[in-house]
Amino acid sequence: MLTGGGDCPGLNAVIRAIVKSANKDGQYEVYGSIEAFNGMLSSPFDIVKLTNSKVSGIHVKGGTIIKTTNKGNPFSYNTTDKKGNVKTKDLSGQLIRNIKKEKFEAVINIGGDGSQRISQQLYEKGLNIIGVPKTIDNDLSSTDITFGFSTAVQISTDSFDKLVTTAESHNRVMIMEVMGRDAGWIALHTAIAGGAEICLIPEIPFNIQSIKKTIEKRYTKGRGFVNIVIAEGAKIDNTVIGKQEKGDSNIKLGGIGNVLRKKLEQAGVKPDIRVSVLGHIQRGGSPVARDRILATAFGVKAFDLVKKQKYGQMVSFTNNKVTHTSLKKAISSYNQVHSKHYLINTARSIGISFGE
Ligand code: F6P
Repeated sequence: MLTGGGDCPGLNAVIRAIVKSANKDGQYEVYGSIEAFNGMLSSPFDIVKLTNSKVSGIHVKGGTIIKTTNKGNPFSYNTTDKKGNVKTKDLSGQLIRNIKKEKFEAVINIGGDGSQRISQQLYEKGLNIIGVPKTIDNDLSSTDITFGFSTAVQISTDSFDKLVTTAESHNRVMIMEVMGRDAGWIALHTAIAGGAEICLIPEIPFNIQSIKKTIEKRYTKGRGFVNIVIAEGAKIDNTVIGKQEKGDSNIKLGGIGNVLRKKLEQAGVKPDIRVSVLGHIQRGGSPVARDRILATAFGVKAFDLVKKQKYGQMVSFTNNKVTHTSLKKAISSYNQVHSKHYLINTARSIGISFGE
């Protein structure tokens, strides 16, 4: 098994559940490839045998004991020659040969949409592979929820609560920027759980003048306060805020909170505005109970699929059941907040503005 892409609370609970259920079955040995596929592409292999004692108690820990990377795509793998030149190569064939030579029956790839795209490509090339979805963003369409999301929302809500008291004391406008990539799930859940006045998400275009009006309504004679939660992928003037990093095809989102502050100040918003960017705090630390449970159920299901040799599948949680779906279907669409989602109506009904 391997964990790929960004880490997420609950990964260790999945690892533990796979190992425990495989060992209980008694016919399998489980190995972890260190840093996603890098472990099976290095020489000698960087892999670790995962026994019950190795995984004992790890379900409460954040991160992943087998490490992860978002730079290990075997289909476009960066290699460095003796002169230090970096070349991108397709090492997928070599990876599959390595895995088969070592007589591994199957691979369980625990990762987000990028990782599951790789799983599907490897499956098409003949690898026995199962996907387990993970992401704090909750943006995978073939599962109703992913583990890690509830923890991220809890962390974000706790932080939001703290910002509310200081906003109130100082009569300030507080902007809290949360993660979520191109989906507004973390922001929307936090806005409802924390009681935000304004929630700005990628799926709903917003307007600075309308936000200004909402702020002004909350102030009388200079007194009042406003808490805004904004998703990192929300767009200002139809543009996302972030930077393109070398060797990464995805834009690294971040910075929209400060851009919003500037725009509001330029528009003449009077109260002091402060910005907090939560960043990776949302991905760290111990998973909440809900994520530990979901992750454990996903790990057990992944092993069950291996045992039944149902390859090319991704574990999912649908209609209150842990089930599975083809990897092909799982990667075919992206799960954004739909305008008719019940939480949009919930938020609007209690007066949360989406800045339209
Ligand atoms: O997909 C999870 C996530 O935390 C996003 O919410 C965020 O945009 C991104 O990963 C950050 O990636 P990195 O850890 O590479 O900075």
